[in-house]
Amino acid sequence: MNILLTGGLGYIGSHLALGLLKNKKTKLTIVDDLSNAKLSTKNTIKYLSKKKFKFKKLDLKNKNKLQKLFKVGKFDLIFHLAGSKSVKESQINPKKYYENNVIGSINLLHAMIENNVKNIIFSSTATVYGLHKKNCYSENFSREPINTYGLTKKIIEDLLIDLKEKNQINTLILRYFNPAGCHISGLLGENPQGIPNNLYPYIIKIIKGEVKYLKIFGNNYKTKDGTGARDYIHIQDLVDAHLKCIKLVKKKSDIFNIGTGRPYTVLDIINSFKKYCNFKINYNFYSRREGDIDIYYNKISKAKKKLGWSAKRGLKEISQSTFNFAIKSK
Ligand code: UD1
Repeated sequence: MNILLTGGLGYIGSHLALGLLKNKKTKLTIVDDLSNAKLSTKNTIKYLSKKKFKFKKLDLKNKNKLQKLFKVGKFDLIFHLAGSKSVKESQINPKKYYENNVIGSINLLHAMIENNVKNIIFSSTATVYGLHKKNCYSENFSREPINTYGLTKKIIEDLLIDLKEKNQINTLILRYFNPAGCHISGLLGENPQGIPNNLYPYIIKIIKGEVKYLKIFGNNYKTKDGTGARDYIHIQDLVDAHLKCIKLVKKKSDIFNIGTGRPYTVLDIINSFKKYCNFKINYNFYSRREGDIDIYYNKISKAKKKLGWSAKRGLKEISQSTFNFAIKSK
């Protein structure tokens, strides 16, 4: 099978590339604009997979280059992961998100339709739901994003659903909860430049000794210990969910939440590093971060039933692989 993976050198994309390359019959082409990924990741994927694949530095906004890629590529399936993903940045610079996420995706869909490529699996997010009264989110919750990042993902979902209804494509949409953890080798993980916004990349900086302590945003949430609770999904489980989609997408278009169904608080995460890695994370409490909610997690039943997938790993595997990656990338 001839597969195109967009955003394939990023945190999720690089792990997915390794998963895809395990199948001997797969011919993989990776594109990435390198805006939030390093070119050296290409060599890490090569080293770990011991397989050949094609790589092109490509910005999806470049329609002509994209058309050329599709003319020679003859793809059977697209995994579309490329996009900008900082909630904070999307509120400050929404235009960047309209362009990178929405226009980039429109160009990709245009190239697919022009070249009669039918199948696309799209990387969406639970952020599309926005705030709901219930904590356990299912796929039929209404989508009411509260930030531009979430809005752009919702718009792309709508385009996919519309094209699917017009029989132009087959699509599976995956709404991720909080991806976490790193590759077992310790050679791939999430390591953004500068001060990270998200919890695990921040903890990686602490393990590396670049930051002294964690700022916990809020200690008066309605959770067991007052700190915010999320559904952290191990990157390898996330990859497995994508691999399950390959067969299904040709038969049925659908939408799946991808999470574990178990919420953990910030203090649970801190304790997991002590318990499984014997590493103490120092912290101080700060005021709440704007837009944060108390707790939310996935209602796992649909993916289990219809995709035949559920998460196998937990906080132990997440903390150990994160620790291993942080130490190795010191
Ligand atoms: C964030 C994004 C979401 C994205 C997800 C990817 C926001 C508002 N939402 O979700 O769109 O899909 O990441 O994983 O940015 N925390 C601290 N200190 C820190 C960092 C985080 O206490 O330095 C807390 C947060 O308050 C929260 C939890 O840790 O309770 C998780 O935060 P984070 O990793 O940023 O994820 P989300 O906010 O759930």
